[in-house]
Amino acid sequence: MKLIAQGAESKLYLNENKVIKDRFRKSYRIQEIDGRLRKFRTKREAKILEKLSLIDFSSPKLIETDKKEKIIMEYIDGELIKDILEKKYKTLSSEIGKKIAILHNNNIIHGDLTTSNMILNNKNKKVFFIDFGLSFFSDKIEDKAVDIHLLKQAMESKHYRIWDKAFKEIIKNYKKEAENSEEVLKRLQKVEKRGRYKGKK
Ligand SMILES: Nc1ncnc2c1ncn2[C@@H]1O[C@H](COP(=O)(O)OP(=O)(O)OP(=O)(O)O)[C@@H](O)[C@H]1O
Ligand SMILES: [Mg+2]
Repeated sequence: MKLIAQGAESKLYLNENKVIKDRFRKSYRIQEIDGRLRKFRTKREAKILEKLSLIDFSSPKLIETDKKEKIIMEYIDGELIKDILEKKYKTLSSEIGKKIAILHNNNIIHGDLTTSNMILNNKNKKVFFIDFGLSFFSDKIEDKAVDIHLLKQAMESKHYRIWDKAFKEIIKNYKKEAENSEEVLKRLQKVEKRGRYKGKK
């Protein structure tokens, strides 16, 4: 077993073609709360991965979970979008925009859309989304707008050279594919005017 990533919340190991995501104990959190939170996010991520399989979305297939702290899923071999976006932002962004629309059409909010949570698969050359620990089901326009807003913020800081062109492409394609896209994008403008999202509805 090889450690492939150490996230803020978890350690990820590669074993053959499987990834083990282990949400480790956080020493600074009260133990009872920590245990509940890890369990909640693990179960949530597993549930969303199952749903995504059913709709044939490009994400890792869930293999197993202990419903407490471990998820075993399919390994997606490829490069993080974060590392390759600048090179070919146009085609990547258009695919990303369409895929966010598919998530939202299924009332799935990713909750942590960043280019570190997307992988271009070497095998089929498709963009895969990962990291569904903060995801949830919602049909609310507000939740969809905030999902996109967070991606925009992440892109502004990580891809300052091309983020505006890339983001435009994402929106153009989201618009084409998403139900209620007009409402969502109108709300996005409001969310932005409101400045930093404070969780107000
Ligand atoms: N199924 C997978 N296939 C290939 N690589 C993966 C897979 N899942 C996760 N990774 C790699 O591990 C990293 C961290 O995974 P993930 O984002 O799910 O965990 P995290 O704890 O939320 O991390 P972070 O706090 O950094 O977002 C990813 O950025 C990716 O490089
Ligand atoms: Mg991540």
